[in-house]
Amino acid sequence: MGEMRMKLPSRIVLLAWFLIFALASLTGQQKWVIGMSQCNLGEPWRVQMNADIRKAAAENPTLTVIFKDAQNDTLKQRAHVEEFVNARVNLLIISPKEAAPLTAPVADAFRKGIPVVVLDRRVLGNEYTCFIGADNKRIGQAAGRWIAAKLGDRGQVVELKGLMTSTPGQDRHSGFVEGIRGTGIEVIFEADMKWLEPNARKEMESALAVHKKIDLVYAHNDPGAHGAYLAAKAVGRDKEMLFVGIDALPQEGQMYVRQGIVAASFEYPTGGREAVDSAVRILGGKRVPKEVTLPSRVFTSENIDKGGEWLDIKAAGK
Ligand code: FRU
Repeated sequence: MGEMRMKLPSRIVLLAWFLIFALASLTGQQKWVIGMSQCNLGEPWRVQMNADIRKAAAENPTLTVIFKDAQNDTLKQRAHVEEFVNARVNLLIISPKEAAPLTAPVADAFRKGIPVVVLDRRVLGNEYTCFIGADNKRIGQAAGRWIAAKLGDRGQVVELKGLMTSTPGQDRHSGFVEGIRGTGIEVIFEADMKWLEPNARKEMESALAVHKKIDLVYAHNDPGAHGAYLAAKAVGRDKEMLFVGIDALPQEGQMYVRQGIVAASFEYPTGGREAVDSAVRILGGKRVPKEVTLPSRVFTSENIDKGGEWLDIKAAGK
């Protein structure tokens, strides 16, 4: 009897705790704050990435996403990552402008226990939770092969590269070089247009001034292809050559294909939804793969009405 009396208060305490937790899980769920560091919002593709993240996060009431735009300034983006770490966000998503300078702040967040999802452009090393993006090397290679086939294995090509301190620029270049290896395709002019349409236009003006014969422009993104097209059109030479780009947003690259401005655009999915899916798994204590490779399609005037053609049947799960 004495023993019963001793146990009663502890049982009541236990019951009270149980009720508190049960009520808490019924009324208010655990809230997670995600910091999203975007390198810039100057291009439609990045606006789309943020929109994809916002939409996916809105479907999950436990998530709040805070967006920061570094306006294409590496130092600003480093500061943004540090601010998120100091604010102790529950998880960080970052699409870094450049690999090397963003490596240390990302590693620092990761070491301090903040899970980090790196999206689209890589950092160096492996101090992050997971990387999500399409295979840029494979896209570059597919572009090279497509271009060689289109030009009958010979021709003079201008390559307008993305920022070469960012990994997609490096991979879209090296993949392309592999794709045209052993063919008679000659790169007669190459320049780093840093992903930006006005730079691409300027570089293309130089290429046009020097080269009387250009068969095709391979630009690392659709803004680059469009900038090159505008430069060629301004001097009445747009019909002499083809333009190929990467991104294939419905409202950008796919539209250029439909308009006959661009001969082919290779899809580069934003990964926004996949980043939120991974974030939810990580926050829920589940394991995620270190690397998620997103599938890609090529859009041309022949296949656009059928939804393009997958580059890798297995990766696309088709
Ligand atoms: C946008 C963008 C895209 C490109 C991606 C590569 O900033 O330049 O056009 O596919 O970044 O990271």
